[in-house]
Amino acid sequence: MNDATHPLIDTVQVNDALTFLKTLPDESIQSIITSPPYFGQRDYGAEQQIGLEMHPDAYIQALVSVFAEARRVLRNDGTFWLNIGDNYVGATSQHKAGGSQGKNSRYSRKHMNGIPTTGRKIRNKTFYEMGLPMKSLVGMPWRVAFALQSDGWILRCDIIWHRPATSESVKDRPTHAHEYVFMFSKKQKYYYDRSTMLTESGANIQSVWRVTGSPFSGAHFAVFPAELIEPIVQASCPMNGVILDPFGGSGTVGLVAKQHQRHFILCDISPENVALAQQRIACGITSDDKLRLGLDMKPKTKKISSKEEQAQKLLL
Ligand SMILES: C[S@@+](CC[C@H](N)C(=O)[O-])C[C@H]1O[C@@H](n2cnc3c(N)ncnc32)[C@H](O)[C@@H]1O
Repeated sequence: MNDATHPLIDTVQVNDALTFLKTLPDESIQSIITSPPYFGQRDYGAEQQIGLEMHPDAYIQALVSVFAEARRVLRNDGTFWLNIGDNYVGATSQHKAGGSQGKNSRYSRKHMNGIPTTGRKIRNKTFYEMGLPMKSLVGMPWRVAFALQSDGWILRCDIIWHRPATSESVKDRPTHAHEYVFMFSKKQKYYYDRSTMLTESGANIQSVWRVTGSPFSGAHFAVFPAELIEPIVQASCPMNGVILDPFGGSGTVGLVAKQHQRHFILCDISPENVALAQQRIACGITSDDKLRLGLDMKPKTKKISSKEEQAQKLLL
């Protein structure tokens, strides 16, 4: 199939990821870049949402099923890039009804629409039964990565996304300041434009990426910054190829794809998020994007008010 004739090209669809992927033709997508909901962290308010399963195995299995279908729609020379973060057993942030301060807190009203995140007690109990007491780091990214390997994906790289802005109030361990971006392929040979993955001195890029770019702050859920996925968009897909994000959220993948003359297909279960993504992609390039893309070289010092700074911290 000619990439540009793909059905649903350059659209954002409201649907459950698995149901949506089943409608796409075999081997029709060049690259998949996505960030699914993390386990037990947020309530997106939709019945078929992923992330609030009572058992971690059910969460892992849900992701394996979605990504097995994604593997079918991926071209044989395609790659799949998965951003996923970890969590601690019993961490209260965003877990209590409506978040750490309760469903009527300003945080919940602003960032979670006041929707209580249910099932925390049951999830914690399951962790204890698995031999993970309170305060244990779950290791969920690796659990998911191993399950995807067992399901047939070739794990090519574990990129550490170093997020220096992360703030945590812990005093008995180092501050957790990274997430993973796993790179998978379907076959041993695949499309990869190495020229977009070189350092300024021409060396191969290393696997720890310090990305400080601020994520779009108009969403009330976790959003990855454009800077994180920009090299991936360019390396994993030639111009006019099609990139898929089955958990599209605020549309970052669509926006960056468009900015680099790639096509996109996005899906998200939440109609509000889809509307947000459509609006964001239609708006195109903002002044911040221009700076990132080198279209506006004037140095710009953006003054962030303490209120904005606080809001950005809460989004992390
Ligand atoms: C971590 S956010 C993605 C953020 C996105 N990378 C961005 O930059 O905006 C996860 C998204 O998955 C969506 N979601 C949850 N369950 C889903 C499902 N079963 N199918 C499709 N989307 C789902 C949520 O509505 C949420 O927008």
